[in-house]
Amino acid sequence: MEENRSKLGTAAFMTSLYTKATAAADCIRSLTPLAPRLGIILGSGLGNFAAQVEDPTAIPYAEIPHFPQSTVEGHSGKLILGHIAGVPVAVMQGRVHAYEGYPLSEVTFPTRVLGLLGCKSLIVTNAAGGINTTYRQGSLIAIADHINLTGSNAAAGPNEARFGPRFFDMTTAYSPRLRSMAQAEAAKQNIPLTEGIYLAVLGPSYETPAEIRAFRTLGADLVGMSTVHEVIVARHMGIEVLGLSLVTNMAAGVLDEAINHEEVMETGRRVERRFTSLLTALIPRIASR
Ligand code: HPA
Repeated sequence: MEENRSKLGTAAFMTSLYTKATAAADCIRSLTPLAPRLGIILGSGLGNFAAQVEDPTAIPYAEIPHFPQSTVEGHSGKLILGHIAGVPVAVMQGRVHAYEGYPLSEVTFPTRVLGLLGCKSLIVTNAAGGINTTYRQGSLIAIADHINLTGSNAAAGPNEARFGPRFFDMTTAYSPRLRSMAQAEAAKQNIPLTEGIYLAVLGPSYETPAEIRAFRTLGADLVGMSTVHEVIVARHMGIEVLGLSLVTNMAAGVLDEAINHEEVMETGRRVERRFTSLLTALIPRIASR
């Protein structure tokens, strides 16, 4: 796409991004009559939640025009449409990341498509490293706000007004309404759920201990390599966002041990029951307005 951008010129690039997202949405509509109200993006180790979708239509990303495909283990790459607790949903099982070499227009392409399909709300989940020392491996955190240290913004470039305005507010990017619903549901189910600030880096290397100390000073509680771009694009389109992080490991230097991807996936499996039960109960609450 980056190459196309220079060939077409930037304004034509945005038009073609809209055209491509429309083509992807049309393809999905041709495969199922289901009109999703809520989108869910499943992060590393959390992909099994997709089994909650009733009467699913599962579409491999490879079969959707222009959808990027993940190269990372644990991000299987299917869009699953169906119902959860009576709510029409579209679940992304797997996402692509900028560290894989994808431009942000591709990283956020599926979010654009969810918006065009009619999703009014988006639940974004991720695996994250815990910077806040009160967190533990396996803690679930509702994202209260983010710090984008990736050096880039998915909404940069010529603005496509059919997606949203040139400048847009990020004061309440992580919806206070959805956050308070998440707190209420977690309390009801006796699931500890604190709030935290998510700081995004490009990756793919995990951070150094010095970086983690610096991020703590900046006010970060969590660190990860995803989410912020999808949230920026969702807010551009006026979609309400709930962000949930799973602390799969304590960030570099917090404990006296190395970080590895297997640990990240394993923690996902360990908290699966809690995560599934919280999310399943939240979905009808979020959709009922
Ligand atoms: N750092 C960055 N991203 C991550 C981490 C981490 O420690 N754990 C899971 N995703």
